[in-house]
Amino acid sequence: MKNILVTGGLGFIGSHTVVSLHEAGYNPIILDNLSNTRIDVLGGLEKLMGKKPVFFQGDVNDAAVYDQIVSQTGPIHAVIHFAAFKAVGESVEQPLKYYHNNVQGLITLMLAMERLSVKNMVFSSSCTVYGEPDQVPVSEETPTKPAASPYGVTKQMGETILKDCTWLQTQCLRYFNPIGAHPSGLIGELPLGVPSNLIPYLTQSVAGLRPPLTVHGGDYPTPDGTCIRDYIHVCDLADAHVASLNRLLGNKQQDHFEVFNIGTGTGQSVLEVLHGFEAATGEKPSYQVGPRRPGDVVAVWADAGKASSVLGWQARRSLSEMLRDAWNWQRKHS
Ligand code: WQD
Repeated sequence: MKNILVTGGLGFIGSHTVVSLHEAGYNPIILDNLSNTRIDVLGGLEKLMGKKPVFFQGDVNDAAVYDQIVSQTGPIHAVIHFAAFKAVGESVEQPLKYYHNNVQGLITLMLAMERLSVKNMVFSSSCTVYGEPDQVPVSEETPTKPAASPYGVTKQMGETILKDCTWLQTQCLRYFNPIGAHPSGLIGELPLGVPSNLIPYLTQSVAGLRPPLTVHGGDYPTPDGTCIRDYIHVCDLADAHVASLNRLLGNKQQDHFEVFNIGTGTGQSVLEVLHGFEAATGEKPSYQVGPRRPGDVVAVWADAGKASSVLGWQARRSLSEMLRDAWNWQRKHS
């Protein structure tokens, strides 16, 4: 089995991808510093994988950790790099924390990969690299614009660094808004502290763990005044990583740096999500409309045609399924 180092592998997207990698016959090796997750995610993974996951607690900025891992696991065939902070609002308040972890961490990882002759990377990028697009949907050829938040800048910087390192074969996946949870309810989204993202805050507030949701802005130039995003089931996103890795390790890559939008191709507003949550779960969220959040773009959703034609991947799960699985996870986890 091929060893795949998954940095941030105990996180929301990372943990779901670890399950998909295992099911596809790869050997996922998890590196996580537990800064935005909990060690008990390992228990959920063990149940889903039928074996104890290979886990190393450590930080992507610790240069020595990679040598320690390889000395125990043997050669790494590819890295899937999830480990990064990802809250748009928080990055506006704490930019340096984001540059240190997201940019310096990537550089430390890449220096280790060069040293250890690991030449394959799947990079977790984001639709935030498009900034506020002039038109939607955005394709991979849509010019990137100044990001609306330091988080988005760190992803733009990451893409530039990877593009410039032609010795590395990179699959750059630009995620849209990952939500939901594994249908088993054994793993899901579990941010530490008060969730910045819409769905974990929504499910925690409906479960009575948080005050009612505040909708960040109701006066945007959209049909109902709230921001529009492309929400994608985290399991669809996990499957996209396997499709990308198969291309990478199958030497099918045409260029050293390939970019794919990983979204559903459909945009939904915050209010549409709230109404969809009630329709999918029978639970009526209470909320109030508050001021806009700095760093938010008005509307962004994907043209996902390239991932379909080149990777042979497309999102299969509906918004209703995403919201039902998110609520199932919350009820099981509460
Ligand atoms: C979505 C919408 C908020 C919380 C995320 C990830 C980022 C990237 C893109 C992967 C916005 C509104 C939110 C709340 C609200 N994904 N909202 N009340 O900012 O689009 O970014 O997806 O790389 O990493 O963070 O997601 O869920 O924070 O916001 O009204 O309490 O929900 O204003 O319009 P965002 P989000």
